[in-house]
Amino acid sequence: MKNIKKLLYLSPIALLMVGCAGGNNPGIEYAPDMYDSKGYEPYNQLDSNTLNEYGANVRRPVDGTVALGKADYAYALPNTGEGYERSATEVSMPAGLADAECEGKRLYIMYCSPCHGVEGKNDGNIFKRASYLKPGAWGDGYQNDYIKNLADGQIYHTLVYGKNNMGSHASVLTPTQRWQVIAYVRQLSNGNVDCDGSVVVSTDSVSMASDVTAEDVQSEVSDSTKNEEVH
Ligand code: HEC
Repeated sequence: MKNIKKLLYLSPIALLMVGCAGGNNPGIEYAPDMYDSKGYEPYNQLDSNTLNEYGANVRRPVDGTVALGKADYAYALPNTGEGYERSATEVSMPAGLADAECEGKRLYIMYCSPCHGVEGKNDGNIFKRASYLKPGAWGDGYQNDYIKNLADGQIYHTLVYGKNNMGSHASVLTPTQRWQVIAYVRQLSNGNVDCDGSVVVSTDSVSMASDVTAEDVQSEVSDSTKNEEVH
C-alpha cells in the first residue's frame, strides 16, 4: 500500500522528466560523429551549411532540369485544358516505334483492362461494378468514333496526367511503353485484339502494317535500341 502511494506521488515528476527531452533533442549521444558525418554529404550536413535548403550541400536543381538519360521523360505541356488541346498537334507517336514482343498488349491487359476491358469495350471489372465511373460519351469502348478521332498526343497526355476518373500512368509506364500501349489501343479501336507484333509505321494516323516481315521488325527493334542509347 505504502509503495503504491509512493508511486502515485512520484509519477508526475517522472512524467516531467520525460517531457523535458523535447521533440528534437536526442538526449546525451555517445560519440555523435558516428551518427552525423563531419565530412561533406550531399543531402545532409548537420548544422553546418546554412546557405542551402535543409542544410544540404547540394543545391536544388534549376527548374526544368532533366536527369541524365531521362530526356524522353521530359514532357513540356502543362496539366491544363490548354495543354491537353495542344497535345493533339504538338505530341506525336515516334516514327518507327517497334513492338515485336507485343509489350503494348501485355501492359494494356495489366494496367488498362481492369477498367477498359480486355477488348477495349469498357467492360472491365471496375467499370462493371462502378458503371458511374465510365466515360459517358464513349461508354461502349474504343470502337466509338470518339477514340478513333482522338489524336495520339491526347492519349499520351491522358496517360501522363490522367483525366477525371482515370489516374496518371506516368509512374508505371516508360515513355516508350506508353506509345506501345497507345498503338495497341489503336489496334483495339480497329477491332483487332490479336497483337501480331507489327511495326507502327506512321505518326498521327497510326496504322499497323500487315506486310512487315520478321526481319523488318528485328531491324526496327535494334534501331530503336540504338536511339535509346544516344539519349
Ligand atoms: C480506374 C479505371 C481506369 C484505368 C485503370 C484506365 N483508365 Fe482510361 N479512362 C478511364 C476513365 C474514367 C476515362 C474517361 C475520362 C474522362 O474523359 O472523363 C478514361 C479515358 C481514357 C481515354 C480517353 C482519353 C481522352 O483523352 O479522352 C483513353 C484513350 C484511355 N482512357 C486509355 C487508357 C489506357 C491506355 C489505360 C492503361 C494504361 C487506361 N486508360 C487505364 C478509366 C481508366
